[in-house]
Amino acid sequence: KDFENVLLEANDGIATLTINRPKSLNALNSATLTDIGDALDVVKNNEDAIKVLIITGSGEKAFVAGADISQMRDMNPIEAAELSKLAHNSFGKIENLKQFTIAAVNGYCLGGGLELASSCDMRIVSNKAKFGQPEVTLGIVPGFGGTQRLTRLVGRGKAKEMIATGTMINADEAHRVGIADEVAEPAELIDKATEIATTIKRNGLIAVGMAKYVIDRAADLPLDLAIDFETQMWAQTFATEDQTEGMTAFLEKRHAKFTGK
Ligand code: HXC
Repeated sequence: KDFENVLLEANDGIATLTINRPKSLNALNSATLTDIGDALDVVKNNEDAIKVLIITGSGEKAFVAGADISQMRDMNPIEAAELSKLAHNSFGKIENLKQFTIAAVNGYCLGGGLELASSCDMRIVSNKAKFGQPEVTLGIVPGFGGTQRLTRLVGRGKAKEMIATGTMINADEAHRVGIADEVAEPAELIDKATEIATTIKRNGLIAVGMAKYVIDRAADLPLDLAIDFETQMWAQTFATEDQTEGMTAFLEKRHAKFTGK
């Protein structure tokens, strides 16, 4: 399917979703947020063909430079809430995919862009990328999850500093504070993301999907409940063919052929 504001390509089990409005530095307007959600539905409905999803931005300059300021300027509170819900709906789909998601952050990653990247399972970033939540410089607060997901990534102190100052940090600092999981040369960014995606896609989709599910769902539970949740997920994997295959392959000293069943 063709989308106006994003590109979705799949190759050998790895799909790439590219936010594609380079003239506006890939700013997220409502049409783009809708396309992201629709593209994620395609990914979800093609678990046989797509094992890992990479999300990146078009052009050399930006991953996503935020929500679209020209669209937001004249919005009333009801329209603002609608835009926020549209983003939450699309970003929530990222977390709810069984497929593992990697943000390959190729440049400016600001506002709604950092909120998008924070919704992915991990972030590999170009050493030229810049990160920030500049909303207060526009007289608003983050509205696509930034006060919550960024805080869960970096802790309250750093999240408050980034959100209250609105200033940008570079890739090394993003790595130090836990936003970036890996830093790469710009020319090697997609290769690095693909390398990790390739390792992940060899593993069973059910086990990978359950792992991200239990990590996300139990993250804010008290430890005893979270551990109990893990036990339940762990036990469920013993209902899968992948568990039998994975352990049989080990004992037969061969590579497992997971079917995701
Ligand atoms: C709309 C944007 C945009 C944005 C850039 N552009 N960011 N348009 N929304 N968020 C447009 C510019 O207007 C310009 O269009 C073109 O992209 C190129 O950008 P320049 O500013 O000319 O580039 P440069 O001077 O290199 O500066 C890059 C930049 C700057 C530092 C990233 O563009 C910038 O500060 N952008 C805004 C970043 C921001 O505040 N984001 C947070 C948005 S609020 P023309 O037509 O002039 O070529 C947000 C809230 C989310 O995300 C949740 C709320 C509900």
